Amino acid sequence: MNSILLLAQKEFENSKSDIFPFIFEGHQYWLKKARETKPDILQYFFYKFFPFELLIPPSRKNKDEALKFESTKLGELHKLGINVPNIVVKTDKYFVLEDSGLSINTILKDKNISSDDFYFYVDLVIQELAKIHGFGCFHGGTQLRNLTFKDNKIFFIDFEESFDKDVDIKTLQYRDFLLFLLSFTKIKELTFRIDYERIINRYLELSKNFQFKTKLIAFSKKLSFFLCLFKKDFIKNRVGSDVKYFFELIEILISMEKNAK
Ligand SMILES: Nc1ncnc2c1ncn2[C@@H]1O[C@H](COP(=O)(O)OP(=O)(O)O)[C@@H](O)[C@H]1O
Ligand SMILES: [Mg+2]
Repeated sequence: MNSILLLAQKEFENSKSDIFPFIFEGHQYWLKKARETKPDILQYFFYKFFPFELLIPPSRKNKDEALKFESTKLGELHKLGINVPNIVVKTDKYFVLEDSGLSINTILKDKNISSDDFYFYVDLVIQELAKIHGFGCFHGGTQLRNLTFKDNKIFFIDFEESFDKDVDIKTLQYRDFLLFLLSFTKIKELTFRIDYERIINRYLELSKNFQFKTKLIAFSKKLSFFLCLFKKDFIKNRVGSDVKYFFELIEILISMEKNAK
């Protein structure tokens, strides 16, 4: 048995966390335990009433299936030349990844980040996302916390989610993009406004998924009733900033249609 496997095994047995870092020979690694994936009941419920791509429930997988799915996908994307961390140990209970740096979410949430730096990272991320999509793949968990930055490169992590075979790849790529956009609404620390239109246009340009713009506008229009509600002061003043930023994005998406006319 090689020594990283010995250490990983010890860490696996002693840790209660599902995913955690450890150091081996001066380098950081991440151990991820097998765990089942299942959509929550609430998501099923909402999906019945609001069949938006964003809410498509992921497939249920037992521990073994989930581990096999994620590690296989990491291997396949790596072969395609997409930046994902290398798997250095794999057993039937867990796998160990090389460290792929700091989460993009953490980097972008820095209140001192300049707008130039912000878009430097965002553009890199969009390039990588468009690259995955260009290969006819999807990520499944494109929130900013599942993207990392190391050695001037963006890496993708967290590939657990899978979907029914009937869901077509463009739908999953659109879901990726929507998840990605929505994850920006969680950033509250910036001194400047996020230019969503810039982000959207850059992605469309690189991915050539131009039809997503129409889909985004249609998505936001379906929510226009809620947007009207939200604009009522007695609601607006009561909701958290997540909801506020979410509706800000919806408003921007709706206005994109007007700009396009
Ligand atoms: N290879 C890695 N390099 C750097 N950070 C990692 C790595 N793997 C996991 N992480 C960190 O651990 C967090 C959780 O890992 P992730 O695979 O996203 O699990 P979960 O399914 O619980 O979201 C990530 O958001 C990231 O901060
Ligand atoms: Mg994650």
